[in-house]
Amino acid sequence: MSETISVHLGDRSYEVHTGPGLLARAGQLIAPFAQSGRAFVITDHNVREHHGNTLTGSLDAAHLKHVTFSLDPGEQTKSFHGLEPLLSALLQANIARNDLIVAFGGGVIGDLAGLAAGLIKRGVPFVQIPTTLLAQVDSSVGGKTAIDMPEGKNLVGLVNQPRAVIADTSVLATLPERERRAGYAEIVKAGLIADAEFYAWCESHAQAILACDQQALSHAVAHAIRFKAFVVEADEMEQGERALLNLGHTFAHALEAHGGYTGQLLHGEAVAAGIALAFKLSAQLGICPEADAKRVIAHLQSIGFITDLRQLPGAPFNVDKLMALIASDKKAAAGKLTFILARAIGRAFIERDAPADVVRELLQQETQ
Ligand SMILES: NC(=O)c1ccc[n+]([C@@H]2O[C@H](COP(=O)([O-])OP(=O)(O)OC[C@H]3O[C@@H](n4cnc5c(N)ncnc54)[C@H](O)[C@@H]3O)[C@@H](O)[C@H]2O)c1
Ligand SMILES: [Zn+2]
Repeated sequence: MSETISVHLGDRSYEVHTGPGLLARAGQLIAPFAQSGRAFVITDHNVREHHGNTLTGSLDAAHLKHVTFSLDPGEQTKSFHGLEPLLSALLQANIARNDLIVAFGGGVIGDLAGLAAGLIKRGVPFVQIPTTLLAQVDSSVGGKTAIDMPEGKNLVGLVNQPRAVIADTSVLATLPERERRAGYAEIVKAGLIADAEFYAWCESHAQAILACDQQALSHAVAHAIRFKAFVVEADEMEQGERALLNLGHTFAHALEAHGGYTGQLLHGEAVAAGIALAFKLSAQLGICPEADAKRVIAHLQSIGFITDLRQLPGAPFNVDKLMALIASDKKAAAGKLTFILARAIGRAFIERDAPADVVRELLQQETQ
């Protein structure tokens, strides 16, 4: 069930290893990137508690020296407040440019450790060992790293590609089901953007994925990674087509920001609601068959996502505030609203001039 997927980016190319049971072999897989023979593991307390020993055992078996920095779990760690003490701790441990940083955790740890690796001593190589479903299928591949600012999420960062990614699907067994479901939103997104056949497979295997059936899970994770790798290879710096990965995200970011990132709404939950809105918007604009929008929404609801904005954590939502947030989203260029819309399931496209009045009308219907 294991697979290796290459991300072709010239001299920044790397391999993503995915499948069950890989963590026990992580030391051997990452040893070639630790020139000094030393690994600096950055993780959070939850991940360390569940899986720390498996990782350190594998580092020992590969004769790598290692030290672990365990941080508080949660989005608030992905900030200057989390970055500064981490950089100090790495410097105090005498990190050198031929050491290896290991980002071992969810997207919070991956984004923070990847940024720290890019900054410290002007760059120390790093590998990603993602431990949430979201991080395995999305944040660990593609090189985006960042911290949040009081002004907004992910506003200070680097594109910094890892030397390797190890996505062990067995570690997802300890992940709370709600977090697994949130990660699933980014998997089904891959089908909705460009692959109707994979979307149909998702419809019939979603329950197995959420139940952590290793066969279904490893197939889904590998597929989503292949898709992400393909998009990133074509457009590493998001000049164009990489924006397709933002299906549902313009709405999602506004829904998340509306509540002030309190954590009551997980990113993947906001994405699921955002995907539902993107399909409704596409249908209202007459671009997408109504039946496709209905089918997507029915699927998302059938696995427990809330697509009704009146019921979503963070409700009630204010339409003026949502519209202001949408307009200030990083994808809004020159006063126009940019949305990822769909002509059908599996046929998403970038619309750089979406009519604001139709978006507002839709949000009004959905929140009243
Ligand atoms: N860089 C990118 O391209 C990119 C893409 C998408 C999202 N992100 C970022 O990712 C972050 C969200 O990541 P996330 O959803 O992984 O959240 P997270 O890192 O906060 O992890 C969620 C929770 O699960 C716990 N956890 C992690 N692995 C576990 C395991 N195997 N077993 C039990 N508990 C475990 C964590 O301690 C945490 O409490 C956001 O900051 C978002 O901006 C980045
Ligand atoms: Zn996302």
